[in-house]
Amino acid sequence: MANPLNKPLGRLRLGVNIDHVATVRNARGGAYPDPLRAAKMAEVAGADGITAHLREDRRHITDPDIDALMANLSIPLNFEMAATPEMQAIALRHRPHAVCLVPEKREERTTEGGLEVAREENSLAHFIAPLREAGCRVSIFIAADQPQIEAAARIGAEVIELHTGAYCDYHAEGKFAERDAELERLREMSAYAHSLGLEVHAGHGLTYDTVKPVAAFPEVMELNIGHFIIGEAIFSGLDSAIRRMRSLMDEARNETFGEGVA
Ligand code: PXP
Repeated sequence: MANPLNKPLGRLRLGVNIDHVATVRNARGGAYPDPLRAAKMAEVAGADGITAHLREDRRHITDPDIDALMANLSIPLNFEMAATPEMQAIALRHRPHAVCLVPEKREERTTEGGLEVAREENSLAHFIAPLREAGCRVSIFIAADQPQIEAAARIGAEVIELHTGAYCDYHAEGKFAERDAELERLREMSAYAHSLGLEVHAGHGLTYDTVKPVAAFPEVMELNIGHFIIGEAIFSGLDSAIRRMRSLMDEARNETFGEGVA
């Protein structure tokens, strides 16, 4: 399953993560702003899917948010969760289109690293089996690290999401040599994961300034972007922020592979 033509494998999808609409709502309690309303707007603006992370501490998205998203969305929900029995039971009750397993530490501000798959191979293989049987696409959020990718393929995940956080941090800090090295690692590992039969997604920390090089990887099929889009929505509105991100993704594909290939 190599990609010898170095052409995109399909249209690049944009998943909009709405967690931080819930962060703003929860800052005051109550019901405003409503993540479902943001998700519906994202749908109109061209999002291909919605991502929401139900954290163990429910710091942003809550159980009723997941109920509302499942009941009202007409685009797929990518349900991010930790690999815990509680979350597995919730996922099996809802059967979202996709389940993305992420590491979770109570004290972290955001998902800091990729999941450690290689060390937890047996337990994760057991964990994902019922999710796959329930019809969920299982995705694993991992660093661009060959042993982790190989372990994800062995346990039967269909998708990996590569963690772009380090690449984006280096860019923001002006460490351009490190940024470029990380980008190269992401590029190589996208191709490698695809060669093992995995579908490749990417996300974390992406902005207007960092999205295009990742969108230009031919094997990447989906980007999941949240914090920057919701932040940018304060200045330009959610619809405009999503449309701009979408058009940068399309530009990257067209500039790299030629008009009409993306
Ligand atoms: N992908 C995964 C697996 C994540 O955990 C997150 C953050 O919740 C994102 C993408 C989106 O990251 P950001 O909010 O930094 O765009």
